[in-house]
Amino acid sequence: MTPRQRQILGLLRAGKVNKEIAQELGIGLGTVKQHVVALFKKLKVRNRAMAVTHGMEVRATAPRLTGDGLLERRPCIVLSVALPDSAPASAGRLLHQTLAAYAFDHDALFLARRGNAGDLIFGVQRPREHDLFLVLRAAHMVYHALANDDALATALHGGLTAGMVIASMNRHGGWSGEAIASPAIAQARELAHAAQPGRLALGSSAADLLLALSPCAPPPAAPEFFAFQALDRFPWNAGYEQQAPIGREFELGHLDALLESTTKGERRLVCIEGETGMGKSRLCRYVAARCAQQGGCARHFICAPGDNGALVYALPAGQPATSEDILAALKATTTARPEAVIVDDGHLLTKDVLTEIARQAADAVGRLVLVAGRRFAEKKIATADETLRLSRLSQSATEQLVARTLGLSDASPLVAKLSRDAAGVPLFAIQLACQRERGRLPLPLRFVIGARMDSLGLDHVLLRCVARQSSPPSLDELAATMDTSIAAVKTATALAIASGVLHRDDENRFSFTHPLLRQAVIEAQVE
Ligand SMILES: Nc1ncnc2c1ncn2[C@@H]1O[C@H](COP(=O)(O)OP(=O)(O)O)[C@@H](O)[C@H]1O
Ligand SMILES: [Mg+2]
Repeated sequence: MTPRQRQILGLLRAGKVNKEIAQELGIGLGTVKQHVVALFKKLKVRNRAMAVTHGMEVRATAPRLTGDGLLERRPCIVLSVALPDSAPASAGRLLHQTLAAYAFDHDALFLARRGNAGDLIFGVQRPREHDLFLVLRAAHMVYHALANDDALATALHGGLTAGMVIASMNRHGGWSGEAIASPAIAQARELAHAAQPGRLALGSSAADLLLALSPCAPPPAAPEFFAFQALDRFPWNAGYEQQAPIGREFELGHLDALLESTTKGERRLVCIEGETGMGKSRLCRYVAARCAQQGGCARHFICAPGDNGALVYALPAGQPATSEDILAALKATTTARPEAVIVDDGHLLTKDVLTEIARQAADAVGRLVLVAGRRFAEKKIATADETLRLSRLSQSATEQLVARTLGLSDASPLVAKLSRDAAGVPLFAIQLACQRERGRLPLPLRFVIGARMDSLGLDHVLLRCVARQSSPPSLDELAATMDTSIAAVKTATALAIASGVLHRDDENRFSFTHPLLRQAVIEAQVE
């Protein structure tokens, strides 16, 4: 390989597109293309994805899919763990086995490395909001697997980071199993290398993700390390914040009144429903904090995805609990008032447990039982007294939230723009305001939007075509750009409209329903 080719390969690995490479090296686009073609020949690869992963040992846990591949930038989380070189080979094997099994169970990728080290990559096949939790649990599992040998377990060190990965996908967003590459992998390995024995070092983007998607109050400063041993707790808790949520006056007033009524012996089962980032966890924390302020008692649980049903943790300390503990809390008698039992992300519980919670809640005297979750549609708690559905914040509340996050006292054109983009979703408002200078979608939002989009199975070629046009395209224009029949475009657009991703205007032209969806599609493209 010539020095130039090596340089270009490095830039490809960093996820740069031809135009960016040309800019960076100060050469023409045509020259870059020539170099890239020569590079492919030299490496005996057919495409860019294969080039970037050339020489990397990638073990896929998903079957290869056929179909027209698209290269996409996707959000990922990388966990890199290692034992000292002096550790016996059997320990290395155990480490690899544990990581490989975990990858298999959770749609992750496992990169086996020589010696006593390995990497787990989450998000490539399908990003989910819970990936960070799964990664931290993976780290704890590895520790646990080694734990019968004390010296080994305490010698384990690791790095955790998040970033973007280039992967080859089929046109419906399914991973084609072909290739992955990401500077995040190198970063996670460096962090692991530098970490103290027994510790997991956190990169700044992983810390951002942790704070953004944490169901508890962000710690005052991002934690830099976790001890592997401490990862059995729900790790991202730092107590309850004092500020009241913005723009939820109705919900707060209502919940306060319900709490008040528990002091008179009334009981109530209330579900809080809403999409990710609407503020469900925030309201749960509010109720817990109100109880404490008034000298009452709140028992606060949070659910996380487990292998059979949900894992349960007791907040605010975050220690592991079970669904039995939730039921016991419903039965326990106390004299403290007001009293509440709060179950966050309860949609992860099985239907049986939810039904039992509802039954117990009906018998519980003088307490408010709150169950928050994404959707209880199919596992509906039939006997819930009421459901609070969190809808989008008003424009003025969104502006207030953006302004507060930016540390501004009043509205400015920037506040107005970010609020429009956030379109009433509190998580979006906060993230856009926190990371506005980067111009790109903040990573946590790529996880949230990616998780949503991938679950819909839409035609990514169609979405790209709509995103690229400066004005909304018509059916004919789409069929021409996509080089397919009108009928095929009709089917694809109908699905995208039914999923709430595209919108058709009066002139039969298509556009995205939310500005951030278009941005997500544009940023995912790799040419
Ligand atoms: N009304 C609100 N005012 C201020 N911040 C909010 C509000 N609603 C949500 N947030 C913040 O937005 C983020 C996402 O909210 P969260 O409660 O975690 O959403 P959910 O649990 O519904 O996914 C959190 O940082 C939360 O503190
Ligand atoms: Mg939540």
